Amino acid sequence: MRPAPWRNEDIAEIAALEAGIMQGAWTATQLAGAYAAGNRGWTVRIGEELAAYAIVLPCGEAWELLRLGVAPAHRRQGLASRLVEEVAKQARVCGGQRILLEVRAHNEPALAFYRRVGFQEIARRRAYYARAAESEDAVIMERRIFMSES
Ligand SMILES: CC(C)(COP(=O)(O)OP(=O)(O)OC[C@H]1O[C@@H](n2cnc3c(N)ncnc32)[C@H](O)[C@@H]1OP(=O)(O)O)[C@@H](O)C(=O)NCCC(=O)NCCS
Repeated sequence: MRPAPWRNEDIAEIAALEAGIMQGAWTATQLAGAYAAGNRGWTVRIGEELAAYAIVLPCGEAWELLRLGVAPAHRRQGLASRLVEEVAKQARVCGGQRILLEVRAHNEPALAFYRRVGFQEIARRRAYYARAAESEDAVIMERRIFMSES
């Protein structure tokens, strides 16, 4: 279950997984654009199956975690934690000092997960996600990266 750098060939599978688990899922075209733009990504496969992925905008001292998803059958097995540690490791190697992300305020599982792996809320964008009947805040979270981390 070691994360591997994403490849162009992963994009269709990531898009299919996204469509099943994410609100506002990225399409294969959006993912291909992110890949072509040089965003970093990692996948975890269980056998042949794509089980989890992370996509990151590496941007100097602040890296942004753009996408993180785990197939339902493979949750609570530490895959997302492993991917976040890989992102932190790679960011540290490149001189990154923090990882930022944005998550929907109603996404309690993701909020619980991010808190568990060291993220803290630093800001809220009120009613960022406008929907027909209601709106939803975006929670901005940050994890500091320390050079002493292994
Ligand atoms: C959020 C998500 C990425 C977590 O992936 P995961 O591989 O299951 O997470 P891990 O197994 O590494 O979980 C580590 C810890 O995070 C917390 N956690 C994870 N999922 C949780 C949940 N559904 N409810 C509460 N806490 C949770 C727990 O403390 C867990 O440790 P434990 O299993 O020993 O209790 C996954 O549920 C997912 O893909 N959700 C849909 C997509 C999504 O919302 N992505 C984030 C959008 S910004």
